[in-house]
Amino acid sequence: MHLKDLHILNFKSWTEGKLEFSPKLNCFVGLNGSGKTNLLDAIHYLCLSKSYFGSRDLKNIRHGSEFFMIEGQFERKDKPELLNIALKKGAKKVLKRNKKEYEKLAEHIGLFPAVVISPYDRDLILDSSETRRRFLDAVISQGNSTYLFHLMRYNKALQQRNRLLKFFAANHNFDSEAIDLYDQQMVEHGSFIAAERANFCAELSPRIHHYYQWLSEGKEEANITYQSHFDTSDALAELKSRHEKDRLLQYSSWGIHRDDLNFSLEDNKVRDYASQGQQKSYLIALKLAQYEFIRDHQNIVPILLLDDIFDKLDEQRVSRLVLLVHDANFGQIFITDTHEERTAALVQQIDPDARIINVSALNNGSE
Ligand SMILES: Nc1ncnc2c1ncn2[C@@H]1O[C@H](COP(=O)(O)OP(=O)(O)O)[C@@H](O)[C@H]1O
Ligand SMILES: [Mg+2]
Repeated sequence: MHLKDLHILNFKSWTEGKLEFSPKLNCFVGLNGSGKTNLLDAIHYLCLSKSYFGSRDLKNIRHGSEFFMIEGQFERKDKPELLNIALKKGAKKVLKRNKKEYEKLAEHIGLFPAVVISPYDRDLILDSSETRRRFLDAVISQGNSTYLFHLMRYNKALQQRNRLLKFFAANHNFDSEAIDLYDQQMVEHGSFIAAERANFCAELSPRIHHYYQWLSEGKEEANITYQSHFDTSDALAELKSRHEKDRLLQYSSWGIHRDDLNFSLEDNKVRDYASQGQQKSYLIALKLAQYEFIRDHQNIVPILLLDDIFDKLDEQRVSRLVLLVHDANFGQIFITDTHEERTAALVQQIDPDARIINVSALNNGSE
């Protein structure tokens, strides 16, 4: 799959932009703040119907404007596809595929996969478990709509259970049987989710190890494991045994909404033991493994968005990374960098057809 062109209006720093791309290697170069990352995010928006940075949709409308619009022509499974996403203040976000509006945005997830490698990935290591669960859920649901279905059901049951706990607290009463109903739903959907998450980690682990070794030329064993409450024979009994505790807390203290991922090097936590350089290599390995996972499960080659790779690696490693992703196993790639000459020298060696786009010259909307 690849993106042939992009037209954006009032998206973040961009007043208007019209760009055409190579089916393989594309580079956005330009000064800091010139709108390079915003372009990657616009591509992410088309593919996944939301910002990579988790910001609220309204924040992406250019200051002083009433709406944004992003449109792109893709080629997917040898067919042309036109995607258009628009948001107007006070209205709901509208996503159209070949001019037809989706009834539910969730239907779009997974059809146009994209993987981002960005300096913000370090949040995956440094933030709380919520960030890692969001990553896990986003990756798995891109290729597995059943997972998304169970996740939505689980979250709904959880929300209702929490609401009930608060209601009981406010009314100074408690009905354990009413809570049982939600326990059952949480177990039904949670078991599916926990099994899929465990599979995902089992599949990802050797791939992370492979890419980590390749990138770092290191000998450490890189690993990912899933740490789940549902790692028990009787989840229903576990939930029930927490009724009294949850009653006092007024929220549900047990379940897959509290699970976590463990990133490790030689059985040491990446967060606590790895150097900055090892952390960067680990994150890139994780993302490349994610890319492979999506490609193999969906039989569609994702778009790879590499933001500020020179920020992550020295020149030699960047060159190896670009060489790696330029391979036939990878599809279309977008790279951003602040130095036009550095990028040109690097990519033109690897691919004479690479397209280098100077964004500073195009994005006249930025201050
Ligand atoms: N909604 C918005 N309206 C106007 N400008 C925005 C909006 N969101 C982000 N920006 C601006 O976009 C710029 C950053 O663009 P970015 O793509 O991150 O630059 P870079 O080329 O360094 O990657 C900042 O100056 C920021 O203020
Ligand atoms: Mg940037």
